[in-house]
Amino acid sequence: MFTVGIITASDKGFKGEREDKSGQVIKDMVIKAGYTLKKYILLPDEKDLIEKELIYMCDDLKVNLVLTTGGTGFSQRDITPEATKAIIEREANGISEAIRYYSLQITPRAMLSRGVSGIRKNTLIINLPGSEKAVRESLEFIMPSIKHGIEILTGEATECGR
Ligand code: MTE
Repeated sequence: MFTVGIITASDKGFKGEREDKSGQVIKDMVIKAGYTLKKYILLPDEKDLIEKELIYMCDDLKVNLVLTTGGTGFSQRDITPEATKAIIEREANGISEAIRYYSLQITPRAMLSRGVSGIRKNTLIINLPGSEKAVRESLEFIMPSIKHGIEILTGEATECGR
């Protein structure tokens, strides 16, 4: 089955001032969907640390999917999309568009997430917003299509079975 890495970007979480409930929601949802969790890490909102971890998960662990949560908003410290854009080789914007499209029907504030998606080598990377609620809502919409995307990326599927 497909493997997954999870990165939570949160200064407060990293300092132990806030429990990482969003990371836990991702864990629960990917395991329920049949993925194997290879690594979970909680990092501060530091661009170089997030970049290094993304590269490690893609190039060394070679996970099929990396899901990040947090750091996609407008606060001065929010830097996850910039770290992701710095290390991806190909954009997969449709996924982030889909997250915002679906989420906007729940809250207009979904427009405030700057999350991006992209591909590095054989790994798909998706930025999710920071809240537990946003993570759950985003994943429930994208998960079925993501699996098909990974099948194409790995060569397990060669065409879109309509
Ligand atoms: N998306 C969904 N589905 N549900 C939500 O409640 N919250 C929004 C948005 N996306 C939300 C959502 C809010 S209030 C913000 S500020 C942005 O995500 C950015 O969140 P982040 O800074 O925690 O990454």
